[in-house]
Amino acid sequence: MPKVALKACVLAGLAASCVLAANGVPDAGTLTTCDAVRHLTAALSKRKPRVHLRAVVTFFDPNALNMFIQDATGGVYVRWQSTGPHPNVGQLIELDGVAALEDFAPQINQPQWKFISNSTLPAPKLASYQDMASTALDSTWVEIQGVVRQTARLRRSALENMFWMKLAMPGGEVEVNMPWQDGIREDLVDAVVRVRGVCGAAFNAKNQLVGVQLYTPDSKQIEVVKPSAPFAPVPAPIAQLQRFGSGYSMGHRVKVAGTVTAAMLGRGFYLRDASASLYVLTRQDIDLHPGDRVETYGFVDLFESHVRLADASVRILGSGPAPQPISISLDKALTGEYDSELVSLDGRVVQSSVWRDRPTVTVQQNKDIFSVSPIPGSTLGKLPPDNSVLRVTGILTDEIDSMDRVVALNLLSRTAGDIVILRPAPWWTLRKALTLVGILVAVGALISIWVAVLRRRVNQQTEVIRQKLAQEESLKEAAQAANHAKGEFLANMSHEIRTPMNGILGFTDLLAETRLNDEQRDYIATLKSSSESLMLLLNDILDFSKVESGQLLLEETPFSVRDCVKEAVHLILPAAQRKHLQTQVDVGADVCESVIGDPHRLKQILLNLLNNSVKFTEHGSVSLSVKSLERGDKGTLLQFTVSDTGIGIPVESQKHIFEAFQQADNSTTRKYGGTGLGLAICTRLVSLLGGRIWMESKPQAGSQFHFTARFKIMSKLTAKTDGSEAAA
Ligand SMILES: Nc1ncnc2c1ncn2[C@@H]1O[C@H](COP(=O)(O)OP(=O)(O)OP(=O)(O)O)[C@@H](O)[C@H]1O
Ligand SMILES: [Mg+2]
Repeated sequence: MPKVALKACVLAGLAASCVLAANGVPDAGTLTTCDAVRHLTAALSKRKPRVHLRAVVTFFDPNALNMFIQDATGGVYVRWQSTGPHPNVGQLIELDGVAALEDFAPQINQPQWKFISNSTLPAPKLASYQDMASTALDSTWVEIQGVVRQTARLRRSALENMFWMKLAMPGGEVEVNMPWQDGIREDLVDAVVRVRGVCGAAFNAKNQLVGVQLYTPDSKQIEVVKPSAPFAPVPAPIAQLQRFGSGYSMGHRVKVAGTVTAAMLGRGFYLRDASASLYVLTRQDIDLHPGDRVETYGFVDLFESHVRLADASVRILGSGPAPQPISISLDKALTGEYDSELVSLDGRVVQSSVWRDRPTVTVQQNKDIFSVSPIPGSTLGKLPPDNSVLRVTGILTDEIDSMDRVVALNLLSRTAGDIVILRPAPWWTLRKALTLVGILVAVGALISIWVAVLRRRVNQQTEVIRQKLAQEESLKEAAQAANHAKGEFLANMSHEIRTPMNGILGFTDLLAETRLNDEQRDYIATLKSSSESLMLLLNDILDFSKVESGQLLLEETPFSVRDCVKEAVHLILPAAQRKHLQTQVDVGADVCESVIGDPHRLKQILLNLLNNSVKFTEHGSVSLSVKSLERGDKGTLLQFTVSDTGIGIPVESQKHIFEAFQQADNSTTRKYGGTGLGLAICTRLVSLLGGRIWMESKPQAGSQFHFTARFKIMSKLTAKTDGSEAAA
C-alpha cells in the first residue's frame, strides 16, 4: 500500500508540472488534463478544443497504434498516428492534440508528443468486474484478479497481433489484450492470476458498454496467484457434466474426448462420446471435420438451460468415418434429450425463406414444425421446393422457455448433402390452384367487361338502325307521296290534254270532208295520224299514271274471254296483214266461257303485247293462246301467251323491258317507235288482275310473252270452243 500511495503522489506532481510547463500560460480553451478531456461535451467537441498536457504512457500497441495515457486526474485514449517515434510504456511525455468525441468516450486525436523523462506506471486501482463495467474506470490503469479461461493469439486483421486471454471474475468475464511478445502461455489456463492494465470497453452501435477489456502493455503485468490444477487422466463422460455428485461442474475445467459431429471454424464444434453430445466453444484456429477424434479441455458452462463446454482447447487424436445420425421422430426431438445431437428428421417443406443470405426451411412432421438452417460457414444449396418431403440430417438445437419446455427446434445442417428429397413436391400446388383461380377470375372479369361493352355497342347500333329504319320509313312515305302526286299530276294532265286532242281529231275529220286539193288532203292525213299517235301516247301516260297514283279501279263486269281475245286480235289484224303476217288464236277448251272481271284492261294488255309482236316481227306469224291453270272457289286463273317470230330481245335487255321507258336499245326506238310504256302498263295491269307477267325470247328467233290473270267464274258451264281460229 505505501508503494501505491507513493506512485499516486508522483503522478499528482506530474499533473501539476504539466500545467506549469505548457509554454507559459495556456489558452483559455486548451484542455490541460486527462480529466478535462474526459469531460468533453458534445457541444464543446464541435469547437475542436486543443489539448496540451503531460502524462505517463500506460499502453501502446505499435501494430494497431492504440495508446492510453494517464495523469493525476485520470486516463484517456489517444488515437495514435504513424508519424514520429513510438513512445514506450512508462515514459512521461508532453502531448499536444485535439479533443474529440467520436464514439464511446472522449479521446485525443492528431497527437504530437515529446519525451520528457522516464517515469513509473501509476498505482493501479484495484477493480472488480462491476467497477470496470460501470464505465467510471474507462482508460484508467487498474489491477484485477480472476481465473484464466482461455488464451489465444489474435490475428483478426493485418494490423492485429495480440496475446488474448479471457479472465473469469466474479460477476463477469474480462478480455485481456496484450501486444504479442512471446508464447501462447497455455499454462495460464485455469490459473488464478492478477493482471494490471488499462480498463477499456467493448461497445455497441449505440455506444453502450457491452463488454469489458483490459489493455495490458506487457507480460510483467501478469502475476500467477494460484497455478492451474493438473488434468484428470480420464476424460469425463459428456452425460455426467453438471450431474449431481459427478464432480464435473460449472466453473471447473474438464477434459472431454469424442468424435466431432459438426464443426464451425473459429467458433466451436459439436462433440459426441458414448454417453451424449455437447457443444464446445473454442477460439482455437483448428480445422476440424466430422469424424475427427479429439480431446478437449474446457470449462463447464451454462447457456439458456443447455450445458456446454466453453473456452476450450482442442487436440486432434485421429480421424475416422463420418458419424451416423440418429434417426428420430419429432416427438422424440421435442423431449429435449437430443439437444446438440446429430440426428435425422423427416418432414414436408412448408416454406423456404432467406434473410440476409441466411436461408431457413420450415419443415412439418405431423402437426409440429421444425426449422432447418445451415451451420455458420456452411450452405443449404438449392432450397427444396414447398411440399417436397425431406430427410434432413443435422445438429438438433432446442429453444427452451422459462418453464423448461422445448418451444422450437432447429436443425443445423452441415452441407447441402444433409438435405435429401425423399419425394418431390406435387406439381399441383395450392399456389398454382390459387394462381389458376386468379387467372379464371381475371378472364371472367374480362369477359364480363367485354360482354358489357359489346352489349352497349349492340344497343347503340340497334338504336342507330332503328333511327335509320324510321328515317327510311319516313323517306319512303315521302317518296311514295311524291310518286303518288306525280302520278296524279300526270293523270290529270294527260286527261286534260285529251279533251282538246279530241277536238283536234274531230275537227281534222270534219276538215277532211271539206273540199281540199291534194296537197291539203296530204297535210290533213299527216295531221290526223300525228294526232292519233299523240292520242295513243296520252292514253298510255294516263293509264300508267293512274295505276301509279292508285286511281285505276277495275271493273267487275261479266264478259266472255273468247270474245275479248277475238276483239283484240281483230284490232291488230289490219297491221298484221299489211306486214303479211299470219295470226293465230288458240283458246283452250277448259277456259270458262263467262267470267267476271275487267274486259277492257284484259284487252288493253293483249293489245299491247299483240301490237309489240306485230311491230317487232317482219316475217312469219303472231299468235295468241289462252289456257286455264286453275279453277275453284277462288275463281279461275288463266294463262295468256302472245308469241311471234320477230326480232327477239337481247338477253341483256330482257330483265329491263318491263320497267317504264325501257327499250331493248335506242335504235329500236327510232326504227319501231314507241315510248317504252306498253310493258310497264301491262305489268301493273296484270298485277291488278291478280297475276304475273314474264317472257322468253331468242334474238332473231322470236318472243313469247306470258301473263296470268284471275277472274271470278260467272257460271259453272265451261265454254265450249272449237279450239282455234286462224286469219290470214
Ligand atoms: N314482241 C317483241 N319482239 C321484240 N321486242 C319486243 C317485243 N315486245 C317488246 N319488245 C321490246 O321491248 C321494248 C318495250 O316494249 P314496250 O311495249 O314497253 O314499249 P314500246 O313498244 O317500245 O313503246 P310503246 O309500247 O310505249 O308504244 C320494246 O321497245 C322492244 O325493244
Ligand atoms: Mg309496245
